Amino acid sequence: MLPIPLAAIGPAAAALSYIDARLDLSNDYRILNALIRSKAKALILERKNRVTPFYLLEEAATTSPSKDRIFLIYQGNSWTYAEAYQVILKYGTWFKERFGIKKGDIVAMDFMNSNVFVFVWFGLWSIGATPAFINYNLNGDALVHSVVTSTAKLVLIDSEVAAKVVGTDEDGARTLQRLKTEKVEGTGEREIVVFDEGMERVVGSWSGKRAPDEDRDGFMLHDKAILIYTSGTTGLPKAAIVSYRKCLEGGGFVGHWFGLRKDDVFYTCMPLYHSSAAILGLINIVYHRATISIGRKFSNSTFWPEVRASNATIIQYVGEVCRYLLSAPPSPCDTDNKVRMAFGNGLRPDVWQRFKDRFGVETIAEFYASTEGTSGSWNYQSGTYAKGAIGRNGSFLKFLLGRSVAVVEIDLDTEMPKRDPVTGFAKRVAWGEPGELLWKLDPTQVHRTFQGYWNNPGATESKILRDVFVKGDAWFRSGDLQSWTDEGLWYFIDRIGDTFRWKSENVSTAEVSQSVGVVEGVKEANVYGVEIPGHDGRAGCAALVLDPVCYPVGESQSVKDAQNALMAKISEHLLNPKKSGLPRFAVPLFLRVLVGEDKNETTGNFKMVKKRLRDQGVDWEKVTRGGKGDELWWLKPGATQYTRFSKADWEEIKGGRVKL
Ligand SMILES: *[C@@H]1O[C@H](CO)[C@@H](O)[C@H](O)[C@H]1NC(C)=O
Ligand SMILES: *[C@@H]1O[C@H](CO)[C@@H](O)[C@H](O)[C@H]1NC(C)=O
Ligand SMILES: *[C@@H]1O[C@H](CO)[C@@H](O)[C@H](O)[C@H]1NC(C)=O
Ligand SMILES: *[C@@H]1O[C@H](CO)[C@@H](O)[C@H](O)[C@H]1NC(C)=O
Repeated sequence: MLPIPLAAIGPAAAALSYIDARLDLSNDYRILNALIRSKAKALILERKNRVTPFYLLEEAATTSPSKDRIFLIYQGNSWTYAEAYQVILKYGTWFKERFGIKKGDIVAMDFMNSNVFVFVWFGLWSIGATPAFINYNLNGDALVHSVVTSTAKLVLIDSEVAAKVVGTDEDGARTLQRLKTEKVEGTGEREIVVFDEGMERVVGSWSGKRAPDEDRDGFMLHDKAILIYTSGTTGLPKAAIVSYRKCLEGGGFVGHWFGLRKDDVFYTCMPLYHSSAAILGLINIVYHRATISIGRKFSNSTFWPEVRASNATIIQYVGEVCRYLLSAPPSPCDTDNKVRMAFGNGLRPDVWQRFKDRFGVETIAEFYASTEGTSGSWNYQSGTYAKGAIGRNGSFLKFLLGRSVAVVEIDLDTEMPKRDPVTGFAKRVAWGEPGELLWKLDPTQVHRTFQGYWNNPGATESKILRDVFVKGDAWFRSGDLQSWTDEGLWYFIDRIGDTFRWKSENVSTAEVSQSVGVVEGVKEANVYGVEIPGHDGRAGCAALVLDPVCYPVGESQSVKDAQNALMAKISEHLLNPKKSGLPRFAVPLFLRVLVGEDKNETTGNFKMVKKRLRDQGVDWEKVTRGGKGDELWWLKPGATQYTRFSKADWEEIKGGRVKL
C-alpha cells in the first residue's frame, strides 16, 4: 500500500484541500511516507548485513558530496563527515588494541555532550561493541547501579564528570572503589578511565584502522545497539535495550517526517545519553547526512548564542526548556536566528504559541515516544491548527492506528488499567477522556518489537499487559495518561502516578507544580501524593527547592523570620484561587523543603526523583532524619498559612486524632 503523493494531483488541489481540511490527509501522508521509507531501508540493511549505523556514517564519509559536508559542530570546532570518520576509526582501534574490546562487548560511557561523546560511541560501533550511556548527573548508588547493571568491564568517564562524582573527597573515593569492584562479571576489576584532553590527544595519535566487516557481522534489527537508561522517576535507573531497529527506523523516520534537508543544521544541547538527542537527533542527522551542532548542556545563557554561531535551522527541545527560554527577559536579538523549526517533546500548550511568536519559529515538530516504547505519535504543526497536541491522525492513519493503539480506563489507586469484574478485560475510554495509552504487541514474539530492559525480566514483564481485550493479546504499557479526541488529536495528560486522588478529586501534579513554581523564591517544585494514616487517597505534598537567599538555613531568629516570610508568601499565593488557579482540594497540604543532604538528586530530564520522596511521605522521622534531612511544613486543618510540621503533629495524625 503506497500513499499517493498529494503534490502530483495538481488540478484537484482545491477540492483536495477541502478534503484535507476535513480528513487531515496531508498529515497522514507525511507520517506514512516516512514510516514506509524508514522501515523499508531498515529491512534492506538487515538483508545486507549492515544494520549498525556505523555504515551510514561510513557511506556518508566516503561518497561525494557528503564527505566534505560539515557533520559535527562543537564549541567553535567542526568536523566534516570524512574527518569525523577518520577520528572514529582511531577510537575503534584504540579500544581494540589498548583494552582488548571486541565484538559484542559492552562499554559504559559517562559523558557530557561533546565531540568526544560521538567519537567514543561510533568508535565502539565501528568494532561491533555496544555502548551503555550513563546519565552524567548520577552519583553514589544510582551511578554504581547503572554501571553494574550494564555488565561493562570498562567505564570511560568525562574528566568534568569525574571531578564531580569521583572527585577528591571521601565519598568520591568510595564511589570509585565501588565502581571498580562491585559485582564485576568474571575475574579482575572493572577498569575506570578518566577521559581528559590528554587522553584525547593520545587517541588522536593512534593510527586508525578500519575493523573488518566480520566485527559487525550477523547483527539483526532486534539486537541491542545501545543501552540507554530511562530517567528514574520510579526508583533506580533501568537500562533499556535500544535495538538497531529503533536506531534506523527512529532516525530515518524523523528526518523524513519533518523534512530534514542536507543543508540543515540541527542544534541540540539535550543530553546525548537520552534517546531523543541520540537517536532522533544524532542518528537522524547521520542517516540523512545533514549537520549537527552540539551544546555541552542546556543553559539559557548559551542556548541562543550557540544557535546563532552555528547557523542552526532546527533546534531540539525537551521538557521545560522552552519554558526556561521564555522566562528570560525579552531581547531585541530574540528573532535574530535562522531557526525554521523546533523539534522535541513536552512543549506544553500554554507556551506553544508564545514560543513560536517570540523567537520567530515557524514550525513545531512535537512528538511523543519513549526510549523503551514501541511506537510514537507525531504532530507537525505550522499554522494555527493542532497547537498543544503531541500527535495527530487523519482518517487514513486511523485504519492503521485503530488496531494498534488503545486508551484505556485506569484505576488511580492501583495505577493499573481497570478490569471488568465479569470478563476481566480492560475498557477503552470515550473520545477525549483521559486513560492510559497502550500499544499493541505481537503476542507470539513480543521481544521482537519490545526488547525491554537489559538483564531485568521482571521490569520488562511489568511493561507488558496481557489479555487486555481478548484472551492471549499483548500490549505495551506506556505509563502515560493521554486523551485522544475524535478530531484525531492526542494530548498528554500526565505520567501515571503523577495524578493522584484526594477527597474523590483528581489532582494533576504537573498543574500544581506549575502553580507553586511561579512564586518568587521557589526555584523548583515537585508535587506528589502521599499516603496519610486513616485517610483515603493521597494528600498533596510539594517538594521545594528554594532560593537560599529567601530561605536560609540555620537556627537564628533572622533565619526563622526569613523562612516564615517566604512561607507566608507561598501561602498567600496557593490559598488564593485567583492567583494560584488551584481549587482547594488541589492545594498541597504539605511542603517539603529540600535542604537535606540529598537535595541535588536530580535526573537529567529536569525531574527530581519522585519515588523516594513519595515513599517517605510525610513520615516525620524519615524526612527530617534528626536534622540531617529536609524540613516539613503543613496546612493545619482550617489554617490559612503553612506552619512547621512537628513530631507532635505527626503523632496526632498517626493516632487518628486529626482529620485532614
Ligand atoms: C553562518 O553564516 C554566516 C553568513 O550568513 C557565515 O559568515 C558564517 O561563517 C556561518 N557560520 C558557520 C559556523 O557556518
Ligand atoms: C534559566 O534556566 C534555569 C534552569 O536551567 C531556570 O531555572 C531559570 O528560571 C531560567 N530563566 C532565567 C531567566 O534565568
Ligand atoms: C483519527 O482517528 C480517530 C480514531 O480512529 C478517528 O475517529 C478520527 O476521525 C481520525 N481523525 C481524522 C481527522 O479523521
Ligand atoms: C478521576 O479519574 C478517574 C480515572 O481517569 C475517572 O474515572 C474519574 O471520573 C475522575 N474523577 C473526577 C472527579 O474527575
